[in-house]
Order: sequence, then C-alpha cells, then structure tokens
Amino acid sequence: MNINEELVVKIEKLSNLGTGIARVDGFVVFVENACPQDELKVQITKVTKNYANAKVLEIINPSPYRVEPFCAMQKVCGSCQLQFIDYDYQLELKRQIVEDAMHSIAGLGIEIPKPVAGPQIKEFRHKIQYPVSQTKVSKRILAGYYKPQSHEIVNIKHCPIQPEVCDDIMEFIRVKAFDFGISGYNEKKHAGDLRHVVLRVSANDGKVLVTLVVNTKKVFARLHDFCESIFNEFDFVSGVCVNFNTKPTNVILGAQTECVCGEDFIEEKLLDKTFKIGANTFFQVNPKSAENIFSYVKNYIKNNFENPTVLDAYAGIATFGICVSDVSKKVISVEENKESIEKAGEVLKNNNIENVELHCMDTAKYCASVKRKFDVIILDPPRKGCTQQSLDETLRLSKGKIIYVSCNPATLARDLKYLCEKGCTVESIQPFDMFCHTYHIENVAIINLPISSNHVND
Ligand SMILES: C[S@@+](CC[C@H](N)C(=O)[O-])C[C@H]1O[C@@H](n2cnc3c(N)ncnc32)[C@H](O)[C@@H]1O
Repeated sequence: MNINEELVVKIEKLSNLGTGIARVDGFVVFVENACPQDELKVQITKVTKNYANAKVLEIINPSPYRVEPFCAMQKVCGSCQLQFIDYDYQLELKRQIVEDAMHSIAGLGIEIPKPVAGPQIKEFRHKIQYPVSQTKVSKRILAGYYKPQSHEIVNIKHCPIQPEVCDDIMEFIRVKAFDFGISGYNEKKHAGDLRHVVLRVSANDGKVLVTLVVNTKKVFARLHDFCESIFNEFDFVSGVCVNFNTKPTNVILGAQTECVCGEDFIEEKLLDKTFKIGANTFFQVNPKSAENIFSYVKNYIKNNFENPTVLDAYAGIATFGICVSDVSKKVISVEENKESIEKAGEVLKNNNIENVELHCMDTAKYCASVKRKFDVIILDPPRKGCTQQSLDETLRLSKGKIIYVSCNPATLARDLKYLCEKGCTVESIQPFDMFCHTYHIENVAIINLPISSNHVND
C-alpha cells in the first residue's frame, strides 16, 4: 500500500478514536469521517508497518446510518466527529467501542449494555473553552474550536450543542475586545492578550460565569473595563473573572484567577443538592447526563448497602460523595485540587451536610495513610486512569464493592485487567453518553473484591 493510492473500501466498524476501520487484504485502514457500512473511495494519507490512514474522496454507497449533521460547521470543526451518524446508532457504536476495549485490553468476555442516552442531544454542553487568536491584517478576534489535528481556529458563531446564550457572549467579546484594545493570542509568538474564553453555564438557572484567560500577570485598566462591559451587557452573567496564564503551554488555565466583577461561581443542582462551580473547578460538562450517573451510583449503594462507609476518590467538588451522603453513614472525599476542595466545603455548608469529610490530597497518599476499611470505594480518575499504587491501596481499604467511574474505556480496561489479576471480578459495566456526537463515552463499572477480602471488619 502506498501514499496517495486510491482504493475502494467498505467500513466494518468504528475505532476507539471514532475513525472508520476498513480492511484491505487483512491490512487495517483507518478512514476519517466514515460510518460502518459505508462503501467509499479513499486516498491513503499515511502508511505504517501495522496500519494506514486514509481520507474519503467519494461516498460510493452511503451507510443507512448516515444523517445530515444539524451543525453547518460539523465538517470543519473538530468537536462533533460523529454528528453525521444517526444518534441511536452512535450509541450502538459506543457500546461496541467499550465491549472491544474490555475484550482486547482486559480479556473480559463481558457483554456491555446499550449506553444510557444523553437527556438532550443539543445544547447539552455547559462548559465552553474557546481558544482565541486574531487575523493578521484586520486584527479581527477569532474564537472557536480547533480544526481536527491542528491549532487553526474555526471562528464559531453558533454552536448547537451549547446553550444559545454562549453565542451572544462570544460575539460581544469578539467585537468589543477590539474596542478596548485587547488583542487575540498568537500561539507561535507567545504574544497577545486574550488566550482563551471559558464559559460555565448553569443548567439550573441559566447563569454564566465568564473567565478570560490572559497572557499577563495582572488586570490592566483596559482589561478591567472590558470585563465590566461584559458584566454590564448581560443580566445572566453572574461574574467575570480573569485567569492569568503566561506560560507557553497547551494547558488552558493558569494557577491564579481574579474575580473582576460579580461572583466567581455559578450554582448547579444535582439530585436536589446545590453545587458551586468556579472557573477552575472540575464539574461534568453535561450536568443532565451526569445526574443519570449520580442517580445510578446512589441507587446501587442504596439497594446493596445499609449505612455504608464510602471513600469518594478523585472527588472534584465531592459530587459523588455529596450525592450519596443521604444513603451513607460516612463519606470521605479525597481530591488534590485545592480550589475544588474549597468549593466542596461551601457546598457541604450550604446543603447542611455533616457526614462528608474532605481531604485535599493525592488519592494514593491518602489511602496509604489510613487503616480503616470502606464498604464502597468510588474511583473517578482523569482520562489516564488510576496508578497501580492507588489500585493496590483501593484493594487494601475495600471490604465491599469498588465503583469505578471512567471517561476512558481503554484505561478502564487496563485497570480492570489489573484488578482481575488480583482476584476481583467485574459485576457490570454501564455506559452513559455524556459527550453526544463524539467518540467519548463514560462508564460505571461495579467491581467485586476477591472472595477472601470480603467482610473484613474495620
Ligand atoms: C474525572 S474528575 C472527577 C471529579 C468528580 N468525581 C466529579 O464527578 O465531578 C477527576 C478528578 O480527580 C482529580 N485528581 C487527579 N489526580 C488526582 C490524584 N492523584 N489524587 C486526587 N485527585 C486527583 C482531578 O483534580 C479531578 O477533580
């Protein structure tokens, strides 16, 4: 197979990164923007020892699951890779992605049920992070998402998967930044003022927290006035913050945030608990879908334990801990991010919750420092999954079930393999679609301990 070679292929299935998989004489070809059952004329763009990449030249016979994307920018913006596929079939494809990961990485022959659908498939994303730049000649501000595999910004005027109010705020920022002499960021030269705009929208009351990520170390006068103009323009903006990030890095937020106008948080409601979310607080981007996951975990605990002790590890603002506190005797939430722990403390106070204890610490270090055992341990790590040390500690501290919540099927499968090698068994895995129209999928795995470690007393 050679670069630029043109071939006709039939797409068999979707890879874990959302590309179509075809086989040519047994050799795997990954095809961008392809749907299972498509018959396509493709051109090879890369060849390696084990696989090739290809782009679509012509759709010869479309898959019956192809639909017209509802967003005009779908083809150029890298955000909703699967929007051209029927939503119900997207769920089936994600189910297969999880099942494949469990078979091929974990060696588990477990059957995966259909993912729980997102309650909304439009206007569901409540955290928006737009990179900002400006045009070379007219210095017009550009803000949107990157084109796939590039850092070229698609200037997005309307994004149907976000609440519509975000479009209005972004357009105001694009136009008014220029008036206040705020320049867009130039990544190559590491120059310019405004690097990112981060919006957090409450699904509860529609309020928006605006955070301007800037390439400076303090709020200068024009920036202050610009923040005020955003705050004064929109009734529903709860506050405008400035986050300082002068490092030449891809990390969006710097360590320091200053609230210039209004409040530095929005309030979100999950299972009748109110949460405060700041600029740098981890909170699920799709709160309505997240609520399905919190209910699922809470009901599991309620139906299987009486007054359990729960360890909520990788806790963020202790969302799981707080949601299950009603059905638990005691919850210990462990999170390494200080801002999240501070926000969690406020949530406990505002909701009069007294049985949740917070620890701002690395999970493995916290676990290594305690002797008590827990009936339930909830693990909700970032995409990279858990370290072996934290899995070992989890096993040492468990006397009931481990509930592993994961946004990455590959690292979940890797960690389940490790736990199964230690004698655990997987009771069930339930996927939830939090990230509609992307290949991403959230999973909740319920894990049984090795028989010998059950029913050990504190
Ligand atoms: C996927 S988020 C889950 C947050 C929370 N459970 C929720 O549902 O909102 C992962 C969290 O783990 C935290 N984290 C990452 N590594 C950690 C570690 N080694 N120890 C403790 N927390 C960690 C991150 O700051 C982040 O808040």
